[in-house]
Amino acid sequence: MKFAVTGATGRFGSQAVKMLQEQLTDHDQVIALARNVEKAEAMFGAGVEVRPGSYDSVDTLTKSMQGVDKLLFISSQPNADFPRLDQHKNILSAAQNAEVQFIVYTSFPHADKVDNPLSGDHKATEALIRETGIAHTFARNNWYLENEMPLINKVVNDGQAIYSADSGKVGWALEVEYVRAAVKLLQMDNPKEIYEFSGRAHTFEELAETVARVTSNTLEIEQVSDADYKQSLLNDGFGESTADLFVVFQQLIRNGDLANVRNDLYEVLDDDVPNFEEGVKTVLGVES
Ligand SMILES: NC(=O)c1ccc[n+]([C@@H]2O[C@H](COP(=O)([O-])OP(=O)(O)OC[C@H]3O[C@@H](n4cnc5c(N)ncnc54)[C@H](OP(=O)(O)O)[C@@H]3O)[C@@H](O)[C@H]2O)c1
Repeated sequence: MKFAVTGATGRFGSQAVKMLQEQLTDHDQVIALARNVEKAEAMFGAGVEVRPGSYDSVDTLTKSMQGVDKLLFISSQPNADFPRLDQHKNILSAAQNAEVQFIVYTSFPHADKVDNPLSGDHKATEALIRETGIAHTFARNNWYLENEMPLINKVVNDGQAIYSADSGKVGWALEVEYVRAAVKLLQMDNPKEIYEFSGRAHTFEELAETVARVTSNTLEIEQVSDADYKQSLLNDGFGESTADLFVVFQQLIRNGDLANVRNDLYEVLDDDVPNFEEGVKTVLGVES
């Protein structure tokens, strides 16, 4: 069986390639699809075959997917010059041309029901995947705990944090847990069509309190307006577009788009998922 991973040089993709390499038998093969082949070759050992994987060429992607049975299709990033949905269309055209048998796609929580600036591409991509007729599973990943480093660092460094998401809840989990789950889906015989992967739901206040507790810090935490939240990010040196993106995160969380969590991550990983406090300790580099 041949497994391929898109965006293999990224944080998610590189972890997935390495996990597959460790877990697969001698009869299986891992193929890293990378736009920068040299970078990928330097990242992975001899057991991984690296093939060109730039999303801008269906021909190249088609050649690189020859013989691939199962594809981990990691969603690309929103991009004004080369829209993410166009990148995704190229990946799917190539998968069809190369007769890939099965796709795991990393999607957005409840992509078919929510409506926010990040979910639209995922909803459309899920529809396109269904149209290809290729067997598939959607790994709808909730938020990574690592996304919250700006808030976590503020609590650690200043004992203070602000947010604008009100009492909105998030199903945070460590990125590596989502990677482990996606890699597991790739190797399952009959996975479900949709998995809503998340940790347990928590608020920003609970996150900040947990960070303060495990670092024995004092905490002042305050709900502010989106405008004040953005200004604080700019004051901390974040660029305009990053600050705007973080405001969008707060808005969709306030809206409840990440609150509806399920047990799927725990089921797929046989309950071997760190609890919230253990996850926070991991991102802080504090021993449990
Ligand atoms: N749920 C969440 O909380 C959450 C958080 C973060 C991200 N995400 C999603 O997860 C995805 C992967 O995240 P990540 O952290 O792995 O991102 P990342 O570390 O920034 O990696 C992005 C990968 O995509 C590749 N890439 C970018 N443009 C490409 C193109 N035109 N053609 C081919 N490859 C291209 C990059 O290649 P180079 O190495 O050559 O640059 C890199 O391998 C994101 O795109 C986003 O959709 C979800």
